[in-house]
Amino acid sequence: MLIYEALKKDHDKLKVLLNDLVGAADASEETRNDLIQQIRDELIPHARAEEAVFYNPLKEIDGTQSIVMHGYAEHMEAETILRTLQAMNAVNVEWTALAKKLKDGIEHHIAEEENEIFAAAQQVLAVEEAELMAEAFEQLKPEIRKGSFMQNTLDLIANLMPERLAAPIRSFNLKV
Ligand SMILES: [Fe+2]
Ligand SMILES: [Fe+2]
Repeated sequence: MLIYEALKKDHDKLKVLLNDLVGAADASEETRNDLIQQIRDELIPHARAEEAVFYNPLKEIDGTQSIVMHGYAEHMEAETILRTLQAMNAVNVEWTALAKKLKDGIEHHIAEEENEIFAAAQQVLAVEEAELMAEAFEQLKPEIRKGSFMQNTLDLIANLMPERLAAPIRSFNLKV
């Protein structure tokens, strides 16, 4: 499998969950929280592993840098909305609007990724490299799933930095 197919498989799963979320305004609080948790469990490991094995190498290659940087920013935006939704317990106008904003934002991000980023990556990556990336991606995701929200956020920030600045952030241990 190539990295593009591995990423698309997750994207398709996420789209279904986001549709369910937007349709869940009248559902019980438990159902809604369960859906938000499922989205979190799909989105965060996907985004962190995608940054580590796909975005980070691409960001070092001329010509792909600016669209990849745009991708990191959209990850951050989606995760901020998700966290706000997670903290809200009542369904009101704001909840409905935020759920819709999350869905639209992620769908927009996925479309850009599958069109612009995949096309740019296919120009610069060999097929064997795209295969290795898919393997690394699948191995990394379950590890990230075990991490805390804070640790995952720190990793997002480290992924955004040039490598020489990222190391101290990655080595910061939240458990101390
Ligand atoms: Fe993605
Ligand atoms: Fe992404």
